[in-house]
Amino acid sequence: MLASEFKRRRRELMRMMGPDSIAILPTAPLLIRNRDVHYPYRPDSDFYYLTGFPEPEAVLVLIPGRKHAEYILFNRERDRIKEQWDGTRAGQEGACIEYDADDSFPIGDLDDILPRMLEQCERIFYVMGCNPQFDKRLSEWLNAIRCESRNGMQGPVEIIALDHYLHEMRLFKSRSELKVMRQAARISAKAHKKVMQACKVGMWEYQLEAEFVRECAHQGAKAQAYPPIVGAGANGCTLHYIDNKDKVEDQQMVLIDAGCEWDYYASDITRTYPVNGIFSTPQRQLYELVLAAQEAAIAKVKPGNHWNDPHDAAVRTITRGLIKLGILKGSLAKLIREEKYKTFFPHRTGHWIGMDVHDVGDYKVDGTWRLFETGMVLTIEPGLYIPAGTKGIAKKWLNIGIRIEDDVVVTKDGCEVLTKDIAKSVAEIESIMAA
Ligand code: GLY
Ligand code: MN
Ligand code: MN
Repeated sequence: MLASEFKRRRRELMRMMGPDSIAILPTAPLLIRNRDVHYPYRPDSDFYYLTGFPEPEAVLVLIPGRKHAEYILFNRERDRIKEQWDGTRAGQEGACIEYDADDSFPIGDLDDILPRMLEQCERIFYVMGCNPQFDKRLSEWLNAIRCESRNGMQGPVEIIALDHYLHEMRLFKSRSELKVMRQAARISAKAHKKVMQACKVGMWEYQLEAEFVRECAHQGAKAQAYPPIVGAGANGCTLHYIDNKDKVEDQQMVLIDAGCEWDYYASDITRTYPVNGIFSTPQRQLYELVLAAQEAAIAKVKPGNHWNDPHDAAVRTITRGLIKLGILKGSLAKLIREEKYKTFFPHRTGHWIGMDVHDVGDYKVDGTWRLFETGMVLTIEPGLYIPAGTKGIAKKWLNIGIRIEDDVVVTKDGCEVLTKDIAKSVAEIESIMAA
């Protein structure tokens, strides 16, 4: 992402904040996995969205209209010895030169400098409740200012939810964001195709996962947007199965929900297919039903339709199909009203996607589903899951879990499927697996 994009975002946010205000946003903490071992570091998406600054232990401060410096970064100091262990740091000079900050201070000076900045402002824009340690520090700074009120110190009078403004901005993807998301989608689609080609009876779920991750890396994507879900047979019926530890067997279907992260943007794709490359009749019947539901849902993604229209279309198609297959019995309207489909399709049809795989942005506005507008990006991912033990179901349907998931962006007159490069029809899948 170009520096100009980050600058544009900061400017837009500061315009909304107005004068006499301050925004404070710490990045994500570094997390310990186990003794001396950290999880791979990933900055907080809100923080990165405004700064492009990748290091931990940093706090962004924006003070619109402040002379000399509106955009201040608190970040780690350069340190020859620490850098020898953990890699280079931008330091204060780098924060200004490489990351465009108007001013930068060592993170260790936060307690001395930030309260002085707070005193000058009436309104604080802050995300409360996400970082309890930082919440505590902020309330300590505010208390200290209050204690000085007898000396004529006024201090802030209002705390405003920064996320409310920021998440509305993040919901609408710019042209450069869409470029990045298209690339994330392209890479994941290629990796899904590799896995489809590599899949053989007797492999292990984690080997299919490794194939996916390897191809993403080969295409230049170092990180995954979330841990891959690779579940064969009954495991495909566990929605967020990430153990990926079993053998994939003949006659099973395997569900693979995986997507890379590219330049801090997520992709999220699910494909489900028979391990042996040929759909059995019951597998094909259920698969084509999920595919029809997905296509009906995608057709509902266009400006003017509301968030729930794709889900309603998927529910309708799936319920009608389940009646036709004899899995549900009764009238369509009644089964939908009584949500009988939920036994087999227990989740919603999608979510916003962006820097976070389950991205930010409100789904309802003033209590009603929000309308689609151009630049919104979402997933469409209906599924059917029939684990062993589902009551009153013929044996042939058991242990089949199917989800089909694509990422789509709302366009002027409909939508564009970002993840279209990976096949999903029965014929295409069988032909890829046969080759
Ligand atoms: N990969 C998680 C989801 O599809 O929402
Ligand atoms: Mn997914
Ligand atoms: Mn998803």
